[in-house]
Amino acid sequence: MDIKELRIKAQEDIKSAQNLDELNKIFKKYLGKRGELTLILRSLKNLPDKQRKEQGRITNKIKQEIETELQNQKQRLQVSGSTGKFQESIDISAPGRKITIGHLHPLTLVRRQTEEIFQNMGFSVVEGPEIETEWYNFDALNIPKDHPARDAWDTLWLKNKLLLRTHTSPVQIRYMQKHHPPFRIIVPGRVFRHEATDASHDVQFYHLEGLMIGKDVSVANFRAIIGEFFQKFFNKDIKIRLRPGFFPFVEPGFEIDISCIVCQGKGCSVCKRTGWVETLGAGMVHPSVLKNSGIISNSMTGRWQGFAFGIGLDRLAMMKYKIDDIRLFYSSDLRFLKQF
Ligand code: PHE
Repeated sequence: MDIKELRIKAQEDIKSAQNLDELNKIFKKYLGKRGELTLILRSLKNLPDKQRKEQGRITNKIKQEIETELQNQKQRLQVSGSTGKFQESIDISAPGRKITIGHLHPLTLVRRQTEEIFQNMGFSVVEGPEIETEWYNFDALNIPKDHPARDAWDTLWLKNKLLLRTHTSPVQIRYMQKHHPPFRIIVPGRVFRHEATDASHDVQFYHLEGLMIGKDVSVANFRAIIGEFFQKFFNKDIKIRLRPGFFPFVEPGFEIDISCIVCQGKGCSVCKRTGWVETLGAGMVHPSVLKNSGIISNSMTGRWQGFAFGIGLDRLAMMKYKIDDIRLFYSSDLRFLKQF
Protein backbone atom coordinates (compact mmCIF):
# COMPACT_ATOMS: atom_id res chain seq x y z
CA MET A 1 0.00 0.00 0.00
CA ASP A 2 1.12 3.46 -0.85
CA ILE A 3 2.26 5.35 2.23
CA LYS A 4 -0.12 8.25 1.54
CA GLU A 5 -3.12 5.92 1.27
CA LEU A 6 -2.07 4.29 4.52
CA ARG A 7 -1.89 7.71 6.15
CA ILE A 8 -5.51 8.52 5.07
CA LYS A 9 -6.79 5.11 6.16
CA ALA A 10 -5.14 5.42 9.57
CA GLN A 11 -6.66 8.85 10.07
CA GLU A 12 -10.15 7.56 9.22
CA ASP A 13 -9.76 4.56 11.54
CA ILE A 14 -8.70 6.79 14.43
CA LYS A 15 -11.62 9.14 13.91
CA SER A 16 -14.16 6.34 13.88
CA ALA A 17 -12.82 4.67 17.05
CA GLN A 18 -15.68 4.44 19.55
CA ASN A 19 -13.68 3.47 22.64
CA LEU A 20 -10.22 2.93 24.01
CA ASP A 21 -10.22 -0.77 23.09
CA GLU A 22 -10.81 0.01 19.46
CA LEU A 23 -8.14 2.69 19.62
CA ASN A 24 -5.63 0.17 20.99
CA LYS A 25 -6.36 -2.15 18.11
CA ILE A 26 -5.74 0.68 15.64
CA PHE A 27 -2.42 1.43 17.36
CA LYS A 28 -1.40 -2.20 16.96
CA LYS A 29 -2.60 -2.31 13.35
CA TYR A 30 -0.32 0.55 12.31
CA LEU A 31 2.36 0.97 14.94
CA GLY A 32 2.55 -2.40 16.70
CA LYS A 33 5.49 -4.80 16.23
CA ARG A 34 3.94 -6.14 13.08
CA GLY A 35 2.00 -2.95 12.31
CA GLU A 36 1.66 -1.79 8.73
CA LEU A 37 3.73 1.35 9.25
CA THR A 38 6.34 -0.50 11.34
CA LEU A 39 6.84 -2.95 8.50
CA ILE A 40 7.31 -0.13 5.99
CA LEU A 41 9.87 1.50 8.28
CA ARG A 42 11.70 -1.80 8.60
CA SER A 43 11.74 -2.37 4.87
CA LEU A 44 13.48 0.97 4.31
CA LYS A 45 16.88 -0.51 5.04
CA ASN A 46 16.73 -2.42 1.77
CA LEU A 47 16.51 0.78 -0.26
CA PRO A 48 19.44 2.54 -1.88
CA ASP A 49 20.97 5.31 0.28
CA LYS A 50 19.39 8.33 -1.33
CA GLN A 51 15.90 6.88 -1.56
CA ARG A 52 16.14 5.56 1.99
CA LYS A 53 16.87 9.01 3.41
CA GLU A 54 13.98 10.59 1.50
CA GLN A 55 11.45 7.82 2.30
CA GLY A 56 12.64 7.63 5.91
CA ARG A 57 11.94 11.30 6.47
CA ILE A 58 8.39 11.06 5.02
CA THR A 59 7.54 7.85 6.84
CA ASN A 60 8.78 9.11 10.19
CA LYS A 61 6.78 12.29 9.80
CA ILE A 62 3.64 10.26 9.09
CA LYS A 63 4.40 8.03 12.08
CA GLN A 64 4.55 11.11 14.33
CA GLU A 65 1.31 12.46 12.91
CA ILE A 66 -0.47 9.16 13.51
CA GLU A 67 0.87 9.03 17.06
CA THR A 68 -0.41 12.56 17.78
CA GLU A 69 -3.82 11.75 16.33
CA LEU A 70 -4.03 8.58 18.43
CA GLN A 71 -3.16 10.58 21.53
CA ASN A 72 -5.76 13.25 20.79
CA GLN A 73 -8.51 10.73 20.15
CA LYS A 74 -7.57 8.91 23.35
CA GLN A 75 -8.07 12.10 25.34
CA ARG A 76 -11.40 12.79 23.66
CA LEU A 77 -12.67 9.30 24.47
CA GLN A 78 -11.52 9.54 28.07
CA VAL A 79 -13.40 12.81 28.61
CA SER A 80 -16.62 11.41 27.13
CA GLY A 81 -16.51 8.34 29.31
CA SER A 82 -14.64 6.03 26.92
CA THR A 83 -17.69 4.12 25.76
CA GLY A 84 -18.33 5.97 22.59
CA LYS A 85 -19.72 8.87 20.65
CA PHE A 86 -23.25 8.54 21.98
CA GLN A 87 -22.19 9.71 25.44
CA GLU A 88 -20.38 12.64 23.93
CA SER A 89 -23.74 14.25 23.06
CA ILE A 90 -25.05 14.13 26.65
CA ASP A 91 -24.02 16.97 28.90
CA ILE A 92 -24.37 15.50 32.36
CA SER A 93 -23.73 18.88 33.98
CA ALA A 94 -26.74 20.53 32.27
CA PRO A 95 -29.56 21.56 34.67
CA GLY A 96 -32.70 19.38 34.58
CA ARG A 97 -35.87 20.30 32.75
CA LYS A 98 -38.66 21.72 34.92
CA ILE A 99 -41.83 19.61 35.09
CA THR A 100 -44.98 21.67 34.59
CA ILE A 101 -47.38 21.00 37.42
CA GLY A 102 -51.15 21.11 36.91
CA HIS A 103 -53.16 23.84 38.60
CA LEU A 104 -56.71 24.78 39.45
CA HIS A 105 -59.15 26.40 37.07
CA PRO A 106 -59.94 30.06 37.96
CA LEU A 107 -63.59 29.12 38.65
CA THR A 108 -62.47 26.40 41.07
CA LEU A 109 -60.23 28.90 42.84
CA VAL A 110 -63.12 31.34 43.19
CA ARG A 111 -65.55 28.63 44.31
CA ARG A 112 -63.14 27.37 46.96
CA GLN A 113 -62.42 30.84 48.28
CA THR A 114 -66.13 31.68 48.39
CA GLU A 115 -66.91 28.43 50.22
CA GLU A 116 -64.20 29.13 52.76
CA ILE A 117 -65.47 32.63 53.54
CA PHE A 118 -69.04 31.39 54.06
CA GLN A 119 -67.91 28.35 56.04
CA ASN A 120 -66.12 30.71 58.40
CA MET A 121 -69.49 32.40 58.96
CA GLY A 122 -71.13 29.09 59.87
CA PHE A 123 -72.56 28.06 56.49
CA SER A 124 -72.45 24.43 55.33
CA VAL A 125 -71.77 23.51 51.71
CA VAL A 126 -74.60 21.53 50.10
CA GLU A 127 -75.07 20.16 46.58
CA GLY A 128 -78.01 19.22 44.39
CA PRO A 129 -78.71 17.55 41.02
CA GLU A 130 -78.02 19.30 37.71
CA ILE A 131 -80.98 17.51 36.12
CA GLU A 132 -84.10 18.76 37.90
CA THR A 133 -87.83 18.30 37.75
CA GLU A 134 -90.09 21.10 36.67
CA TRP A 135 -91.56 21.15 40.16
CA TYR A 136 -88.29 21.85 42.01
CA ASN A 137 -86.95 24.29 39.43
CA PHE A 138 -90.21 26.28 39.05
CA ASP A 139 -93.48 25.30 40.77
CA ALA A 140 -92.10 24.88 44.28
CA LEU A 141 -90.31 28.21 43.90
CA ASN A 142 -93.62 29.94 43.36
CA ILE A 143 -93.30 30.08 39.58
CA PRO A 144 -96.46 28.33 38.29
CA LYS A 145 -96.70 26.94 34.78
CA ASP A 146 -98.26 29.86 32.97
CA HIS A 147 -96.61 32.58 34.99
CA PRO A 148 -94.71 35.04 32.78
CA ALA A 149 -91.81 34.92 35.27
CA ARG A 150 -90.80 31.58 33.73
CA ASP A 151 -89.63 33.53 30.71
CA ALA A 152 -86.84 34.97 32.85
CA TRP A 153 -85.14 31.57 32.72
CA ASP A 154 -84.55 30.27 29.19
CA THR A 155 -84.80 26.59 29.90
CA LEU A 156 -83.15 23.57 28.31
CA TRP A 157 -85.90 20.93 28.54
CA LEU A 158 -85.29 17.19 28.63
CA LYS A 159 -87.82 14.37 28.26
CA ASN A 160 -90.54 13.67 30.87
CA LYS A 161 -90.75 17.19 32.30
CA LEU A 162 -87.13 17.03 33.34
CA LEU A 163 -84.84 19.96 32.65
CA LEU A 164 -81.30 21.20 33.19
CA ARG A 165 -81.62 23.41 36.26
CA THR A 166 -81.64 27.09 35.37
CA HIS A 167 -80.52 28.14 38.85
CA THR A 168 -79.40 26.58 42.16
CA SER A 169 -82.58 27.74 43.93
CA PRO A 170 -84.28 24.28 43.65
CA VAL A 171 -81.72 23.03 46.20
CA GLN A 172 -83.36 25.41 48.73
CA ILE A 173 -86.50 23.26 48.50
CA ARG A 174 -84.62 19.94 48.53
CA TYR A 175 -82.70 20.98 51.64
CA MET A 176 -85.67 22.42 53.54
CA GLN A 177 -87.70 19.26 52.88
CA LYS A 178 -85.13 17.23 54.75
CA HIS A 179 -83.80 19.55 57.46
CA HIS A 180 -85.31 21.48 60.30
CA PRO A 181 -84.43 25.13 60.82
CA PRO A 182 -82.41 26.93 61.99
CA PHE A 183 -79.75 26.43 59.32
CA ARG A 184 -77.47 28.30 56.97
CA ILE A 185 -76.22 26.75 53.74
CA ILE A 186 -74.53 27.63 50.49
CA VAL A 187 -75.00 25.65 47.28
CA PRO A 188 -72.34 26.05 44.59
CA GLY A 189 -73.18 24.43 41.26
CA ARG A 190 -73.49 24.48 37.53
CA VAL A 191 -76.61 25.94 35.93
CA PHE A 192 -77.80 26.00 32.32
CA ARG A 193 -79.65 28.47 30.14
CA HIS A 194 -80.84 28.23 26.58
CA GLU A 195 -79.33 31.52 25.48
CA ALA A 196 -77.31 33.02 22.66
CA THR A 197 -73.72 33.34 23.89
CA ASP A 198 -71.79 36.58 24.06
CA ALA A 199 -69.06 38.08 26.23
CA SER A 200 -71.28 38.01 29.34
CA HIS A 201 -73.61 35.05 28.61
CA ASP A 202 -72.92 31.36 28.14
CA VAL A 203 -75.18 28.30 28.03
CA GLN A 204 -73.66 27.05 31.28
CA PHE A 205 -72.16 28.87 34.22
CA TYR A 206 -71.83 28.60 37.97
CA HIS A 207 -74.13 29.88 40.68
CA LEU A 208 -73.77 29.96 44.41
CA GLU A 209 -77.04 29.88 46.29
CA GLY A 210 -77.26 31.01 49.91
CA LEU A 211 -80.04 30.23 52.38
CA MET A 212 -80.32 31.15 56.03
CA ILE A 213 -83.44 30.35 58.04
CA GLY A 214 -83.99 31.13 61.71
CA LYS A 215 -86.47 32.66 64.13
CA ASP A 216 -85.44 36.26 63.57
CA VAL A 217 -83.21 36.29 60.47
CA SER A 218 -83.70 39.63 58.75
CA VAL A 219 -82.58 41.76 55.80
CA ALA A 220 -80.10 43.42 58.16
CA ASN A 221 -78.42 40.04 58.76
CA PHE A 222 -78.25 39.47 55.02
CA ARG A 223 -76.67 42.87 54.46
CA ALA A 224 -74.03 42.25 57.12
CA ILE A 225 -73.17 38.77 55.84
CA ILE A 226 -72.95 39.71 52.18
CA GLY A 227 -70.93 42.82 53.10
CA GLU A 228 -68.46 40.68 55.04
CA PHE A 229 -68.25 38.29 52.10
CA PHE A 230 -67.34 40.97 49.55
CA GLN A 231 -64.87 42.57 51.93
CA LYS A 232 -63.04 39.25 52.34
CA PHE A 233 -63.36 38.15 48.73
CA PHE A 234 -61.88 41.29 47.18
CA ASN A 235 -59.81 42.15 50.22
CA LYS A 236 -60.94 45.76 49.85
CA ASP A 237 -63.53 48.14 51.22
CA ILE A 238 -66.59 47.50 49.08
CA LYS A 239 -69.78 49.53 49.24
CA ILE A 240 -73.09 47.73 48.83
CA ARG A 241 -76.40 48.97 47.50
CA LEU A 242 -79.76 47.15 47.67
CA ARG A 243 -82.32 47.92 44.98
CA PRO A 244 -85.82 46.43 44.82
CA GLY A 245 -85.89 43.47 42.42
CA PHE A 246 -88.41 40.81 41.53
CA PHE A 247 -87.96 37.06 41.98
CA PRO A 248 -91.17 35.05 42.60
CA PHE A 249 -89.53 33.03 45.42
CA VAL A 250 -88.64 36.01 47.63
CA GLU A 251 -90.59 38.86 49.15
CA PRO A 252 -89.26 41.51 49.31
CA GLY A 253 -86.67 40.87 46.59
CA PHE A 254 -83.47 42.80 45.90
CA GLU A 255 -80.78 43.29 43.33
CA ILE A 256 -77.46 43.94 45.01
CA ASP A 257 -74.88 46.24 43.45
CA ILE A 258 -71.31 46.66 44.69
CA SER A 259 -69.10 49.66 44.13
CA CYS A 260 -67.02 49.06 40.99
CA ILE A 261 -63.71 47.46 41.94
CA VAL A 262 -62.01 48.67 38.79
CA CYS A 263 -62.57 52.41 39.30
CA GLN A 264 -63.48 52.39 43.02
CA GLY A 265 -66.90 53.82 42.16
CA LYS A 266 -65.62 56.80 40.19
CA GLY A 267 -67.12 55.57 36.91
CA CYS A 268 -65.50 53.53 34.11
CA SER A 269 -66.46 51.34 31.15
CA VAL A 270 -66.85 48.21 33.33
CA CYS A 271 -69.56 49.86 35.46
CA LYS A 272 -70.92 51.82 32.46
CA ARG A 273 -69.93 55.08 34.22
CA THR A 274 -72.33 54.43 37.11
CA GLY A 275 -69.75 53.41 39.71
CA TRP A 276 -71.88 50.33 40.55
CA VAL A 277 -71.87 46.74 39.28
CA GLU A 278 -74.89 44.45 39.58
CA THR A 279 -73.77 41.22 41.23
CA LEU A 280 -76.57 39.21 42.76
CA GLY A 281 -80.24 38.61 43.42
CA ALA A 282 -81.58 38.09 46.91
CA GLY A 283 -84.55 38.52 49.19
CA MET A 284 -86.55 37.19 52.13
CA VAL A 285 -87.75 33.65 51.39
CA HIS A 286 -91.38 33.75 50.24
CA PRO A 287 -93.88 32.11 52.67
CA SER A 288 -95.16 29.88 49.80
CA VAL A 289 -91.64 28.53 49.27
CA LEU A 290 -91.35 27.65 52.96
CA LYS A 291 -94.79 26.05 52.81
CA ASN A 292 -93.93 24.03 49.68
CA SER A 293 -90.91 22.69 51.57
CA GLY A 294 -92.98 21.75 54.61
CA ILE A 295 -91.81 24.57 56.86
CA ILE A 296 -94.49 26.55 58.62
CA SER A 297 -93.95 30.25 58.54
CA ASN A 298 -96.39 32.44 60.34
CA SER A 299 -95.60 36.06 60.77
CA MET A 300 -98.15 36.28 63.60
CA THR A 301 -96.45 33.64 65.73
CA GLY A 302 -92.95 34.57 64.63
CA ARG A 303 -92.00 31.14 63.25
CA TRP A 304 -89.33 30.48 60.67
CA GLN A 305 -88.11 33.13 58.26
CA GLY A 306 -84.90 33.95 56.44
CA PHE A 307 -83.12 35.13 53.36
CA ALA A 308 -81.84 33.57 50.15
CA PHE A 309 -79.43 34.85 47.53
CA GLY A 310 -77.85 33.74 44.27
CA ILE A 311 -74.43 34.92 43.06
CA GLY A 312 -72.90 34.20 39.66
CA LEU A 313 -69.47 32.69 40.35
CA ASP A 314 -68.31 33.41 36.80
CA ARG A 315 -69.10 37.07 37.29
CA LEU A 316 -67.18 37.12 40.58
CA ALA A 317 -64.18 35.53 38.87
CA MET A 318 -64.40 38.03 36.01
CA MET A 319 -64.36 40.93 38.47
CA LYS A 320 -61.58 39.48 40.56
CA TYR A 321 -59.23 38.61 37.67
CA LYS A 322 -60.44 41.38 35.30
CA ILE A 323 -61.61 38.97 32.59
CA ASP A 324 -63.84 40.51 29.95
CA ASP A 325 -65.32 37.39 28.27
CA ILE A 326 -67.15 34.62 30.17
CA ARG A 327 -66.57 32.16 27.29
CA LEU A 328 -62.85 32.05 28.09
CA PHE A 329 -63.64 29.90 31.17
CA TYR A 330 -64.99 27.09 29.01
CA SER A 331 -62.72 27.40 25.98
CA SER A 332 -59.90 25.11 27.29
CA ASP A 333 -57.42 27.62 25.91
CA LEU A 334 -54.15 26.89 27.72
CA ARG A 335 -52.80 30.37 27.04
CA PHE A 336 -55.67 31.66 29.20
CA LEU A 337 -55.68 28.90 31.80
CA LYS A 338 -51.93 28.96 32.48
CA GLN A 339 -52.22 32.46 33.92
CA PHE A 340 -53.85 31.29 37.14
N1 PHE B 1 -82.13 32.17 41.33
C1 PHE B 1 -82.00 33.57 40.99
C2 PHE B 1 -81.43 33.68 39.57
O1 PHE B 1 -81.43 32.72 38.87
C3 PHE B 1 -81.12 34.30 41.97
C4 PHE B 1 -81.74 34.40 43.33
C5 PHE B 1 -81.52 33.44 44.28
C6 PHE B 1 -82.56 35.47 43.64
C7 PHE B 1 -82.07 33.53 45.54
C8 PHE B 1 -83.11 35.59 44.89
C9 PHE B 1 -82.87 34.63 45.84
O2 PHE B 1 -81.03 34.73 39.14
